[in-house]
Amino acid sequence: MAARAGERRILCVGLVCLDIISVVETFPAEDSDTRCVSQRWQRGGNASNSCTVLALLGAPCAFMGSLAPGPAADFIAADFQRRGVDTAHIAWQTRGDVPCACCIVNASSGSRTIVLHDTNLPDATARDFERVDLSQYKWIHFEARNAAEQQAMLERVERHNRAAAPGQRVRISVEVEKPREELLPLMGRGQVVFISKDLAQHFGYRSAPEALRGLRGRIQSGATLICAWAEKGADAMGPNGELVHSDAFPPETLVDTLGAGDTFNAAVIFALAEGRTLQDALTFGCRIAGRKCGIQGFDGII
Ligand code: FRU
Repeated sequence: MAARAGERRILCVGLVCLDIISVVETFPAEDSDTRCVSQRWQRGGNASNSCTVLALLGAPCAFMGSLAPGPAADFIAADFQRRGVDTAHIAWQTRGDVPCACCIVNASSGSRTIVLHDTNLPDATARDFERVDLSQYKWIHFEARNAAEQQAMLERVERHNRAAAPGQRVRISVEVEKPREELLPLMGRGQVVFISKDLAQHFGYRSAPEALRGLRGRIQSGATLICAWAEKGADAMGPNGELVHSDAFPPETLVDTLGAGDTFNAAVIFALAEGRTLQDALTFGCRIAGRKCGIQGFDGII
């Protein structure tokens, strides 16, 4: 989706990878040799999937993350282009492999089992981020990954915001999905913080509202904390501590949950960036994520 002149966009910073997806009707046993019902390559990675969804929703958006030249990157770059996602901020690396995930999607339950290889490609750095013209963006979303560099990126956006007129500030959101110790301080940054069910459970919480109450001390004052919980829907705690809930909107048949969380995050960001209320944004996020779970891939979510 091309930006109209002067229209500020949404930037997502984080992972892009190649997802090689095998769709099965029955989950294979270890050390078995079976056929799948279909197989496809799909551009993946949380921030990259969120860009796909933002583009489908009609929001001009850009992606920032790392790639290394080669056939996988060619496929990924072409797919970004097909969706109209701006790739000018991709940090091209001279060493390392494009991250690749083997994904098994069980079409009879919708479950997705992911094995990701992403150990040797350097992530985008604060230095790469210096080249981003912040005045072009109304919202920057960070998928927590390389925490130290991302802290420096966040500092740059915060500095920009302190100097900018209110209408020119960049809103910041952060997603902390993995319970890795070094990522947790990133919850203290950004006006909107998404935490995963996995992270909440890692802390011992058994529901989203419980996690929000328990973890609210980790976010900055005035920020919003959001936690989606699969079939239980999603909960959020707004700037004044108010709790908001949306039920899930499950499809008739769950067929593919790969990227459902990234879909939820994108839809919530899209709605909040449009000025909709937290309740509306949460409900919209659950609705679009629910639709995603009823189809393979992302085409047809709106
Ligand atoms: C879905 C996803 C996949 C990718 C994996 C990386 O949320 O981004 O596209 O393979 O997670 O952890």
